[in-house]
Amino acid sequence: MSTPIIEAHRGYSAAYPENTLLAFRQAIAARAPSIELDIHVSADGELVVMHDATVDRTTNGTGAIANLSRAELQRLDAGSWKSPTFAGERIPRLEEALALSDSNPVVFNVEVKRFSDPAQSANKLAEMLRRHAPRQGTHVVSSFDLDALLQVRAADAGLPLAILGSDGVALLELAKKHNFPWVHVYHEGITRDMVLAAHAHGVKVNVWTVDKLDLAQEYAKIGVDKICSNRAPELLAAIR
Ligand code: G3P
Ligand code: MG
Repeated sequence: MSTPIIEAHRGYSAAYPENTLLAFRQAIAARAPSIELDIHVSADGELVVMHDATVDRTTNGTGAIANLSRAELQRLDAGSWKSPTFAGERIPRLEEALALSDSNPVVFNVEVKRFSDPAQSANKLAEMLRRHAPRQGTHVVSSFDLDALLQVRAADAGLPLAILGSDGVALLELAKKHNFPWVHVYHEGITRDMVLAAHAHGVKVNVWTVDKLDLAQEYAKIGVDKICSNRAPELLAAIR
């Protein structure tokens, strides 16, 4: 059994404000080899890191990212909602996050939430990923949105893509059809047979989101290739 890669979901998000540079740096400090983050597009076309389509839950602002400019987004506090200790954390631009891989042994799983201008945003993303290619390994682009993945492929046929979803068997069919190297499967949608079938077709399996250590051990035993967790540092200590 090979040890799965442990991926920090939205950074070390159990302890730090999700999808911030602080959460990414803390994941890197704990030697997480991979970090998942989510991206949206601002009103003026900037790729920014946030999970929700609006800033309401994780900042002191309100409104849809698609209606806010990069400058408006930069002024928001993306840390205080988690704890006053984190006041002053900002919404990262994707470029700032990817730049962390220039000098650290980490790769990113960039989850595309929504491209308001698919061709333009996909080109921008591909260009950024090329500019910040990690020294070891490769970044991955993932999405629930098949069309967004195909737009990214049109922008750069060499980028590793992952289709996200809940039904492992259905995702594997999509991966085979479109030649995606990864399926990123909700943890309840994974079985040993599904993992074996994926591997038989050369497709790797990332399971999300697993925060319980005993559950992570179970997924490691059935042979998943990557485990995405809000508690990556704890999992790294337990799985090694
Ligand atoms: O990549 C796995 C996971 O991030 C997908 O769901 O809602 O946490 O982005 P969500
Ligand atoms: Mg995500």
